[in-house]
Amino acid sequence: MAKDIKIALTGDRPTGRLHLGHFVGSIQNRLKLQNEADKSFYMVADIQGLTDNADNPEKVRGNVLEVALDNLACGLDPKKTTMFIQSEVPEIAELTVLFLNLVTLARLKRNPTVKDEMKQKGYGEDVPAGFLMYPISQAADILFCKGNLIPVGEDQLPVIEQANEVVLKFNSLYGETFQKIKPVLSETTRLVGTDGNSKMSKSLNNAIYLSDPLEEISKKVMNMYTDPGHIHVEDPGKVEGNVVFTYLDIFDDKKEEVSELKKQYEKGGLGDVVIKKRLIEVLEKFIAPIREKRAELAKNPTAVMKILEEGTIEARKVAKETMSEVRKAIKIDYF
Ligand code: TRP
Repeated sequence: MAKDIKIALTGDRPTGRLHLGHFVGSIQNRLKLQNEADKSFYMVADIQGLTDNADNPEKVRGNVLEVALDNLACGLDPKKTTMFIQSEVPEIAELTVLFLNLVTLARLKRNPTVKDEMKQKGYGEDVPAGFLMYPISQAADILFCKGNLIPVGEDQLPVIEQANEVVLKFNSLYGETFQKIKPVLSETTRLVGTDGNSKMSKSLNNAIYLSDPLEEISKKVMNMYTDPGHIHVEDPGKVEGNVVFTYLDIFDDKKEEVSELKKQYEKGGLGDVVIKKRLIEVLEKFIAPIREKRAELAKNPTAVMKILEEGTIEARKVAKETMSEVRKAIKIDYF
């Protein structure tokens, strides 16, 4: 494969519906890259989903369709992006096993993303081995198709860094096989949660979903964290750290009006309800078309599964080519 060929790949763990944080952090770049890259892949990372849900396979299984629907509804186009299911490409598992020899246990334990997630889940030393090594499995997710452009949120940067260490080690031991991987970050790499927590996440219960109905959006925005010191309408309010303004900055196209509102808010005389109502409208305008397209697609789950099945066939073809190259490089090509 030529050196400068652009191969985009991303994935989602099928552990829940996707939210605005996913859109801002990664989906918008997926949509861009499917037009700009030479080849584009999207993976439903069910094996990764199982690394912390081994006891709940129904959850993973059930969400395969959900994350596929979310991505299709946002505009991922199966004609441009090969959409597939991780576990149906066993070559990825094979590549993972070979990559595991290139990393130490100490290094796995140092990955800041994994450390954070372990803390959040309260694993301590009793972390499932599969979970601890998921960055290596993710390196295989990316490298089975020689992916080099990876749209991810900021939290995934240490995972990409570790994947690049695998690339370096592999190439130095077995000869130049893989290219350096580039993470593709969006302008807003991390969306704050509705409660003001630094990250929107399902487990923190502070997310607005791409499939939320208007009533749900309204409820969440009405409860949004603003400025706790802004009690009366006439009080001067703080814009910084005020989630409503953070979201308006990202989702409201009328930048001048937003900046005018900020001035008024800081001076005093602008109530939270006014800016919240505006945000509800802005978010509804953004989410409604996604939600509607999603509902339409959801009427025919068989068709969506068919897209994944066809994409998987395509992904496997590519995976087999890479594996034969890898086997040769490692000298395990016997017959
Ligand atoms: N770890 C990613 C997440 O939690 C999901 C993922 C799995 C992924 N495999 C990938 C992302 C490969 C990019 C490339 O969001």
